[in-house]
Formats: sequence, C-alpha cells, structure tokens
Amino acid sequence: MSTPGHYFESMYADSPDPWDFATAWYELRRYGLLVASLPEQRYRVCFEPACSVGVLTGMLAARCDEVHAVDVVDAATEQARLRISRAGLTNAHIRTADALDPWPHATCDLLVLSEFLYYTPASELDDLLSDLLPLVEPGGTVVACHWLGRSSDHACTGEDVHAALAERRDLTLLSHHREEGFLLEVFRR
Ligand SMILES: C[S@@+](CC[C@H](N)C(=O)[O-])C[C@H]1O[C@@H](n2cnc3c(N)ncnc32)[C@H](O)[C@@H]1O
Repeated sequence: MSTPGHYFESMYADSPDPWDFATAWYELRRYGLLVASLPEQRYRVCFEPACSVGVLTGMLAARCDEVHAVDVVDAATEQARLRISRAGLTNAHIRTADALDPWPHATCDLLVLSEFLYYTPASELDDLLSDLLPLVEPGGTVVACHWLGRSSDHACTGEDVHAALAERRDLTLLSHHREEGFLLEVFRR
C-alpha cells in the first residue's frame, strides 16, 4: 500500500516546506535540469501529481499552456496556489487530490513524476503506472526524477522506480541523466 495522506499532513504540520523545495539549491537546480530536459518547446496540458508547494509547478507553467497539479495535502496546495498567484500565472490549476483521483482532462501531453513514485511499494509500481500512463497521449512526454538515497518513509527506492519505468513497453527512453543524488529520465509514451 502506498504511503497514506495523513503521513504527509503531519509533515506539513511540522514545517510549511518540509523538503525546503522553495530554498534549497539542490532542489532548484534539479527542477531546472528537469524542465531543461523536456524535449518539446511547448506543451499543451501538463499533469503534475504530488506538486507539494508548487515551485516546480511554476516553472512548468512557463513551458505549458495549462498545468494541472495535485497534492494530497491542503497545506501544500494552499501554498502552491499562493505561489502561482503571486507569480501572476493564470495557467496553473492546483487542487487537493490524490494522484489517482479522476482527472479533469481526457489526456495530457506531459506527465511529471518527480519524487513521488517511491511512496509506492516496488510490487505495486507497475499497477500505479498502468493507472497513470494512459492519461498521456501517444507521443506525449513522461519525465521522472527520483532521489537515489534511502529513507525509512519510502516504500521503495529511486532505483526501483526507474527499473519499473524501464520495464514498461508503452514508454521509450529518450534521455537518462544520473548523478550522485538523483536519476532523471525522459520518456516518450
Ligand atoms: C517529496 S514531495 C515531492 C514534491 C515534488 N513533486 C518535487 O519533486 O519536488 C512528495 C509529495 O507527494 C505528495 N503525495 C504523496 N502521495 C500522494 C498521492 N497519492 N497523491 C498526490 N500527492 C501525493 C505529498 O503530500 C508530498 O507533498
């Protein structure tokens, strides 16, 4: 079973930005690399599950006509909405929802899976991907980025996540960037 929402609620109760996404150079650089790795200049509709406080959401909004971002925690989505509104962005739509809750659009042409899939046990990753990947139009882009360290609150490792992605017959690997901290891969659906 994936990590339940109340676990993340308690994290945001302790700190408004538990992973320092808005300030840590490691995260800001990782976001910059992720956005720079996207092969298309422009995307029509992006879906970003697990958006947290919306820092990456704002960067994606500069490359997409529409960004639809969700997080299970109200405290996270409230901050994300505030950040997007303060940046004057009107094309990013943020909701409190589970990644698998019904999607408001039929499809997207960009799916962003960043520091999210390792909350699901390795044995359930393929099922989760089978639920998420049909949202992406054929030819659309899937970008995945996961930390390679170990954490007791992760149900599997970043390596497990990218191994599960590599097994998917419905994804073609376009780019692979590995460094000490994380693995960043871009796929065509
Ligand atoms: C480590 S943060 C990742 C944030 C962001 N994607 C990034 O790369 O910086 C994980 C986030 O996933 C959210 N989350 C966990 N499970 C989720 C689910 N099933 N649906 C939506 N959000 C979820 C948590 O609330 C938390 O904000």
